Amino acid sequence: MSVNVRHPVAAEGQALEATPFPAQIEFCGVTKTYGQVTAVEGLSLTVQRGEFLTILGPSGSGKTTTLMLLAGFEAPTAGDILIAGKSVASVPSYRRDQGIVFQSYALFPHLSVRRNLDFPLEMRGVKAADTTRRVDRILARVQLSDLGGRMPSQLSGGQQQRVALARALVADPPILLLDEPLSALDRNLREQMQREIKSLHKEFGITTVYVTHDQDEALTLSDRIVVMRAGRIEQTDTPEALYDRPTTRFVAKFLGEANILEDTAVEVESDATRPFGTVAMIRPERICVADPTAPQRSDAIRRQVVAGTVDDMIYAGPLRKYHVRVGTSVLVVREHVASGQQIFRPGDEVRLDWLRSDVRFVAA
Ligand SMILES: Nc1ncnc2c1ncn2[C@@H]1O[C@H](COP(=O)(O)OP(=O)(O)OP(=O)(O)O)[C@@H](O)[C@H]1O
Ligand SMILES: [Mg+2]
Repeated sequence: MSVNVRHPVAAEGQALEATPFPAQIEFCGVTKTYGQVTAVEGLSLTVQRGEFLTILGPSGSGKTTTLMLLAGFEAPTAGDILIAGKSVASVPSYRRDQGIVFQSYALFPHLSVRRNLDFPLEMRGVKAADTTRRVDRILARVQLSDLGGRMPSQLSGGQQQRVALARALVADPPILLLDEPLSALDRNLREQMQREIKSLHKEFGITTVYVTHDQDEALTLSDRIVVMRAGRIEQTDTPEALYDRPTTRFVAKFLGEANILEDTAVEVESDATRPFGTVAMIRPERICVADPTAPQRSDAIRRQVVAGTVDDMIYAGPLRKYHVRVGTSVLVVREHVASGQQIFRPGDEVRLDWLRSDVRFVAA
């Protein structure tokens, strides 16, 4: 847990409302090696003040290492990290003015909820009366006012998670770092906590760097997402741009489902010409499935039409997913369940069509 004595804590009146210090983060060609292992390589990245930036990537891609470097728990092997324009190379973690939530919430097990929250403030020399007011306020904010006297072992996972979040926020840090903070929670609780984190970010305007390997979480929460792969940045973009215009096959497949159209039996039609070294890709929800005898769509002239056979149909609540064999490949088609819709079964002949403008080209 990083607590800070570099800046005086904001006066009680402005506490938790504003972040009074600039909080722009810059990674300048940062590399981190552990012996033979390169955990992070040549990472350059700027996080704007007030931004919610998510680092997304598979296991071992260097997400936690990136966060640890920023937090000051690790030192770069090469390159530099700037916060508010100044190198933090020689600033120890406890002076970096950051609230941190680790994947394991790491509450002090022998301290009550309230004492867990007092701690960062005491470290900063905040007066007892101010501490009480701040802790009351943040406990109310995460809906834990009644549980201040409990020990962490007497809380549910979600409650512990909220305490960890409250502890990271109680000292009003200009930067918040979160490493997979919701991975231990079930889906409903996770979604509830996502809304909570998002609203806290909006309310306090804290520059937030969030690490996850959960694509949906990244899409829901972030202003921008950095996709990491083997220690390097693969693509940085807004959630929408990343999903709609992935530049590589890796990003297309990591963020949602992607049909890579590389079967030579189907010549892909597109409004654009295929750049060298790329393959065509289409998202499952962009493909329409219909009976082969159904009338053509009114915009058929803008569509590519192929014939296929249903391999499999998977019903998933509001969605229906088809695996459709086209030539030698199998395309995934996803449609929203609606009343009056025709349902296809394995073995059914179908017609697939999609807008040529929905085809994307990604680096192979
Ligand atoms: N202290 C260390 N010593 C040696 N290798 C390490 C150390 N810490 C991390 N690594 C290696 O660096 C790479 C990146 O690890 P990192 O923990 O940053 O991945 P991650 O993206 O956070 O993965 P996960 O999603 O599993 O948490 C991995 O190959 C890992 O084995
Ligand atoms: Mg990690």
